Amino acid sequence: MHTTFAGKRITVGVTGSIAAFKVAGWVSSLVKEEARVTVIMTDSACRFVTPLTFAALSGERVHADLFAKEDAEIIPHIHLARETDLVVIAPATAQTIARLAHGMADDLLACTVLATQAKVLVFPAMNTQMYQHPAVQENILKLKNLGYQVIEPESGRMACKEEGAGRLPEWEPAREAILQNLALQDLAGEKILITAGPTREPLDPARFLSNRSSGKMGYSLARTARRRGAEVTLISGPTTLPLPQGVTCVRVETASEMAEAVLSRCRQASIIVKAAAVSDFRPVVPFVNKVKKEQANLQLSLEQTADILHELGAIKEEAGFLLIGFAAESKEHVAEGERKLTKKNLDLIAINDIQSVHTGFEADTNQVSLLDNKGINHLPLVSKEQTADLIWDHVVKMLGARSSE
Ligand SMILES: Cc1cc2nc3c(=O)[nH]c(=O)nc-3n(C[C@H](O)[C@H](O)[C@H](O)COP(=O)(O)O)c2cc1C
Repeated sequence: MHTTFAGKRITVGVTGSIAAFKVAGWVSSLVKEEARVTVIMTDSACRFVTPLTFAALSGERVHADLFAKEDAEIIPHIHLARETDLVVIAPATAQTIARLAHGMADDLLACTVLATQAKVLVFPAMNTQMYQHPAVQENILKLKNLGYQVIEPESGRMACKEEGAGRLPEWEPAREAILQNLALQDLAGEKILITAGPTREPLDPARFLSNRSSGKMGYSLARTARRRGAEVTLISGPTTLPLPQGVTCVRVETASEMAEAVLSRCRQASIIVKAAAVSDFRPVVPFVNKVKKEQANLQLSLEQTADILHELGAIKEEAGFLLIGFAAESKEHVAEGERKLTKKNLDLIAINDIQSVHTGFEADTNQVSLLDNKGINHLPLVSKEQTADLIWDHVVKMLGARSSE
């Protein structure tokens, strides 16, 4: 399966911190996601983890020696500096941070960083007192001023048994920071409102009507749009998913709360994506007290909730936003999608089949068809994150076509 990292050339600079072993896991994950990883180690790093480990995990020779005889003809630091899309220094010791802050060139990693035109991402990791030392903080500031991206370490219990800031982040937040630096910023300047997840319509104080939406598709859209430079507001029904970094989140529970949250913000948005599975019905009057089992012949009266997509479709030209909907269908997908596209006055609809195990509500993968007034585009079966990126690729093309009209 094609992944977001596929074909990206990432140079990982490992330095002499106790956290070096964690980066072995990062390299393994990057390779699994089809990145081409080259590891450069400092002398001290080789005392913590052997180059053999990184060579085996990356499938590439590990570079550690500025004066390596076997690479002399290619001038290793110049070659490495040119052949990379991104340099990730993790963990970055106080020593390496000082070296880079002062433009020193006394080892292979420092020379490569000086010679590269690629972005450089630095993950400091050290004892809390070291991290907070004014000399280290001053060097970090220098790195930022030099245009390096420095990722704040996490707080927590350290290897030295102290609590505080200085821990190397776990893979997921690190992955996000790396992806953000690799992504084209082709949604920069867009204000995107995304809805995600299910809604819950109370039946009584203990029960509700809901649906099987996990929110994964909407959260993937929010995360990837942020990565691509957009300002993102996510209006989310109840889910257990972690909030994407850098995204403003508004949590709602019922369809009417969702409607209020969307309609009060829609005029500030340039793009709205309705990926939430909003309940179509709600109990006319919820029971004040918990319904008892003995009330066996219980009849439930339902009423329709507001059709948010329809309301947005009615104002979108005047408000000036691009409107994208989702159709989760169990039969006649394309016909249903076409009907919804026209009826709700959408610019684009993503149609998916909720009957398949690969594309349903809780799946991690999806296969959608994108329908607009120019025709239909069947996307491959890929992860929800990649589906989100493919949807944004389509939206970027639509924006380009709009601006050249
Ligand atoms: C057990 C041990 C753990 C260390 N952990 C760290 C660390 O987490 N962060 C750090 O900045 N230095 C740490 N150091 C100190 C560095 O290894 C030392 O400053 C070294 O010169 C760094 O060189 P380099 O930046 O070229 O890899 C540690 C040293 C030892 C002995």
